[in-house]
Amino acid sequence: MCGIVGYIGNKNATPVLVNALKKLEYRGYDSAGIAVFNGQDILVRKVKGALKALEEKIAKETIEGSLGIGHTRWATHGEPSDINAHPHLNESGTIAVVHNGIIENFAKLKAWLQSEGVVFKSDTDTEVIAHLINYYYEYSLDIFEAVKATVNRLEGSYALGVLCKDFPDRIIAARKECPLIVGLGKDENFIASDVPAVLEYTRDVYFLDQKEIAVLYKDHVDLFDEDGNRIIKQPFHVDWDISSAEKGGYEHFMLKEIHEQPKVLTDTMRPRLVFEGGAPVDIKFDELCFDEKWKEAKRIVIVACGTAYHAGVVAKYVFEQLARVPVVVDVASEFRYRNPILCKDDIFIVISQSGETADTLAALRLAKQNGVHVTAITNCVGSTVSREADDVVYTWAGPEIAVASTKAYTTQLMCLCMLALKAAFIKETISASDYKKYLCELNSIPEKVQQILEDKASIQRFVSKNYNKQKVFFIGRQYDSATSLECALKLKEVSYMHSEAFAAGELKHGPIALIDTDTLVVATATVPELYEKLASNIIEVKSRGASTFVITQDDSGAFSSSADEIVKIPSTESFFEPMLSIIPAQLFAYYCAVHRGNNPDKPRNLAKSVTVE
Ligand code: M6R
Repeated sequence: MCGIVGYIGNKNATPVLVNALKKLEYRGYDSAGIAVFNGQDILVRKVKGALKALEEKIAKETIEGSLGIGHTRWATHGEPSDINAHPHLNESGTIAVVHNGIIENFAKLKAWLQSEGVVFKSDTDTEVIAHLINYYYEYSLDIFEAVKATVNRLEGSYALGVLCKDFPDRIIAARKECPLIVGLGKDENFIASDVPAVLEYTRDVYFLDQKEIAVLYKDHVDLFDEDGNRIIKQPFHVDWDISSAEKGGYEHFMLKEIHEQPKVLTDTMRPRLVFEGGAPVDIKFDELCFDEKWKEAKRIVIVACGTAYHAGVVAKYVFEQLARVPVVVDVASEFRYRNPILCKDDIFIVISQSGETADTLAALRLAKQNGVHVTAITNCVGSTVSREADDVVYTWAGPEIAVASTKAYTTQLMCLCMLALKAAFIKETISASDYKKYLCELNSIPEKVQQILEDKASIQRFVSKNYNKQKVFFIGRQYDSATSLECALKLKEVSYMHSEAFAAGELKHGPIALIDTDTLVVATATVPELYEKLASNIIEVKSRGASTFVITQDDSGAFSSSADEIVKIPSTESFFEPMLSIIPAQLFAYYCAVHRGNNPDKPRNLAKSVTVE
């Protein structure tokens, strides 16, 4: 997730901007830049790489001025590079823009601007904003009006900082979906994506609300709603320390990332949905060609590690149900050494949050050596996987800092569900009317995730009674059996409790021998046709002394006699339920870790990116 900063005051803006950007490094980035007005022109310095590289560039090519904006970029549109780094300028270099978020209609706007003769320099969605502001500025000669008109045309999410050479006494800032704060100093004011960036200078901030616009001068700040009406807000006095401020007030990154899921699921889904009359009617993957190959696909092969592998296991159920095409899922470390059978007409998918996992990369290379076209699902633009795969579908989840994957997993599921729906539609294994019905339901998933996050009391209560259990087993059937794998991994990673997943029907074939009074069994139950069978499994373990916890959307009381605690989740199509049912399990793992005194962000023995075998 990008970081934005801005400064107007009496100091030299350059060191203030770089210093503020350093406080946003925790957000993750791949390039950085600043734009400073030096009294005559807007000068830009930007580079691919770390802030150190930017500092080295500035040391050689100094810029001074008391007005500027800065940015750390986490690539979404276009690879990490000097050119794609922010700030971006209009053609004459008189308007500079930094942006955090995703402009969903950028391709349409870019085509239109190009038809008006505008020449683009970068591959970013952000450059559209600089040219669009310029377009409106030429009519109004008023930078505030130009920004207001521009944001009205943007679909998607944005936090913006804008400089205009003709108005060297102000910075314009605006936001929708992405965070943006205004820091209030004495004869100086700031903008930033997050509070830590300004804490060294001030503790008084405005938190901008949806679609609000701020105009910052040296000695005051004016605030407006989206229609340009002036508004009054009370500043907030921050009394957190820097480290809790970085986590947005959450105690840990893992908890913050769990709570980011409604937003990042929207970011991953919305730009790929085609809307008509307010309703989604189609899916478009601009990055993929849904040609004869997908239509005629005889087999899909999915290879990944850890959590990404679990997303692949869920996808097997989804693809097979919707698109009626067989799916083989394999862990990359096994796949690479088992002389796998590969066919040129396979749809071959690797999944990797980091895009740097050694075994996944080896599997990708093996497939390519065998002439197989590889599609990657990854979160990291510019990663090795993204560079070596033939096609890339990005999960726009933003950087995941906690070692235990949460938002990367659900956004991987979102991409896989969308691929399965599109494949089913073109293969005609679902009807046109079902396709639209499923798209509407898909569009509601982020809101349903939000609902789960708003009610954590029963999970916390259950954790407080069970965080010391010796063994935790996760069971389920069908989709829920796949989800159980990820539930068990999450719990063992951060709580160090012994946890395993079993297909519920397998209990009697061995695992039930382990059940005793020191066992907790967590059942995920989202497939109504299988409630009865699962309820019998729960009763079997309960009668042998286990405590039981059920995650379900059921309203009929199917589990009232077998469950010690039930966590209700919203209902949806069964193939979308894994995006919902994992949320209570993520929270369960997080709270168990905290109760046991562990740091969930940095579990023992684990690394975020496994770049060696
Ligand atoms: O970056 P990748 O998705 O390729 O990583 C794969 C696994 O190492 C990763 O999912 C790991 O299992 C996480 N710690 C899970 O929380």
